[in-house]
Amino acid sequence: MTSLASRAPLDVALDALPRLHLAHLPTPLQKYPALDARLACDVWVKRDDMTGGAEAGNKLRKLELLLARALHDGADTVLTCGGIQSNHARATALACARLGLRCVLFLRVADLNALLPEGGNVLLDRLAGAEIHRISAAQYQERDALMADAARTLARIGRRPFVVPEGGSNGLGALGYVRAMREVREQLSLGLGGGMPYDVVIHACGSGGTAAGVALGARAYGVARRAIAMAVCDDAAYFRRRVDGILAEARAILPALPSEAPSEVDDHARGPAYGVASAEQRRLIVAVARSTGLVFDPVYTGKALHGLALARARGDVPLGARVLLLHTGGLPGLLAQAEELVSDL
Ligand SMILES: Cc1ncc(COP(=O)(O)O)c(C=O)c1O
Repeated sequence: MTSLASRAPLDVALDALPRLHLAHLPTPLQKYPALDARLACDVWVKRDDMTGGAEAGNKLRKLELLLARALHDGADTVLTCGGIQSNHARATALACARLGLRCVLFLRVADLNALLPEGGNVLLDRLAGAEIHRISAAQYQERDALMADAARTLARIGRRPFVVPEGGSNGLGALGYVRAMREVREQLSLGLGGGMPYDVVIHACGSGGTAAGVALGARAYGVARRAIAMAVCDDAAYFRRRVDGILAEARAILPALPSEAPSEVDDHARGPAYGVASAEQRRLIVAVARSTGLVFDPVYTGKALHGLALARARGDVPLGARVLLLHTGGLPGLLAQAEELVSDL
């Protein structure tokens, strides 16, 4: 057994944080020859879509730390927010059900008078018993203040609320992805995933927490020289600011984290809008599903994959590069878009 004294300060600090065991770890690192052939590079897929059952995806790694803090603080109710088909809201709702916590979701809708959608993540939110509040795009701009208000109201009636920010993306949540990069390092040491560090890690970016954790962890554990976050909605400048804020928060929690992180944001594949994939992105999702059996979704992972294809075509990711592609989940988001996808099948 390794003695505490011989372990790196970052490992000691990371392991000292309260953490719940919600995710099924380590997730596999898998090779798909048809993906290599299509992209002309050496791609390993980190299957974070397999962190669990219905609750699976990247959010579970963040929630292990965030909900541990909630329980530590004595919370009985968790509040969070997202788009109407938010994977983060669904993962939080299911994790709360497992932990015996109440869950209140503030979900952004285009039309406050429209009925709730019946399928996808919303179905799972409801199955988990979450309390759903629909909010407008304008209210969503003020989401932190809105949740803080709701938390104060709950506290006044004797409940003990805990607010998880959009996407679980704050310094603490991001540490879930520092841990994920440590997990990859351990897999490489065992000869898995090609057994050598990567040129670049690539993943979808929706609220910046995964990007911050991946960049810090990739540097700290020598997993990859570059980390590219593929924006799924806003532009690179917006996400640069968000990721930088989260990097600073994470370093304030764990000063042993590296002061430099190879964090890049790429917005070439953000598509027409949040939640909307272009025709080219939809065709790529279909072609890759048919040649690999891997299912990417139109909201997040399909855009990350398309971003990789475009970066390869531009030469930003060179021919033959060793790529770690994080599959972050999102299947219910695809199932909610049957109508949009059916003409491509
Ligand atoms: C499936 C999926 N992939 C990627 C992301 C992006 O992660 P982050 O919010 O940490 O940027 C999200 C959530 O936004 C997601 O649900």
